[in-house]
Amino acid sequence: MKEGYVNKHEVVKRINKLKKERNAVILVHNYQIGEVQEVGDFIGDSLELSQKAARVNEEIIIFCGVHFMAETAAILSPNKTVLIPDDSAGCPMADMVTAEDIRKWKKNYPGRKVICYVNTSAEVKAECDVCCTSANAFKVAESVEGEDILFAPDKNLASYIARKSEKKIIPWDGYCYVHNNIRARHVREQRQKYPDAEFWVHPESRPEVIDMADKVLSTGGMVKEARTTRKKNIIVGTESGMVYGLQKENPGRNFFPVKEMALCSNMKKITLRKVLASLEEKKYRVEVPCDIADRARGAIEKMVKL
Ligand code: 13P
Ligand code: SF4
Repeated sequence: MKEGYVNKHEVVKRINKLKKERNAVILVHNYQIGEVQEVGDFIGDSLELSQKAARVNEEIIIFCGVHFMAETAAILSPNKTVLIPDDSAGCPMADMVTAEDIRKWKKNYPGRKVICYVNTSAEVKAECDVCCTSANAFKVAESVEGEDILFAPDKNLASYIARKSEKKIIPWDGYCYVHNNIRARHVREQRQKYPDAEFWVHPESRPEVIDMADKVLSTGGMVKEARTTRKKNIIVGTESGMVYGLQKENPGRNFFPVKEMALCSNMKKITLRKVLASLEEKKYRVEVPCDIADRARGAIEKMVKL
């Protein structure tokens, strides 16, 4: 970043000016820190962000989220320049399965279709039949041919689908450490503090935590539900950064994180200054080799069409 932009106000001004000059759009995931959300043109969950990425007119997409999300944008918008402000912002769950793992898995279960959660690398998506997000996982599973389905990498999301579906869902042994570390005792503690509150949970959570919830929602689902719910108090069972946007958009309600320390350190790597540096220096470019992108696109587009 060039010298001289010391305070936050100046950084924001510079971002907004450069964004226009460079013909860039800023896409932001719901878990990003508040000040990054403030400069976003569009804030959403993984599904909404991929749909948006496929439709933007701007030449540059600044993706404020984790690497697999920026990769998905690059796959869906191959003619755009996709930049991530911190190239070390990965998703540990996505790293729990490799393309080679999927190839071996398919050999062990011949003829089974494979669903991959969007939280996977492009190489993994290229090996799978269809992709899903937390917003549409059940719908995707129901649409897939066959009674036995392989699902990677999130075992908690797999178990959530399995309990709703007649199909046999064979899970990979991956998980999100942020959601997996939300325990039943955290829910009990918050329920004791806010006895009239509803509890909303993300489906990456443990089955026993999901069982305690009033609603199971993707992050985008939580944003929508907050607009119409009659409830005044809500305990939010996901990464605690989620509360920022919910509270901002719904000042008449109270949102409490189920666990204050449910933080995704990778999501928090993106800062305002890194967004500015990304615009100024056109870094860090996220590119997916054509052969992998073409195969991965097939799996993503099947999901988007659904
Ligand atoms: P959403 O698609 O619900 O935003 O979830 C993405 C994610 O990484 C959750 O941990
Ligand atoms: Fe990955 Fe979990 Fe962070 Fe989402 S919250 S990006 S699943 S580590």
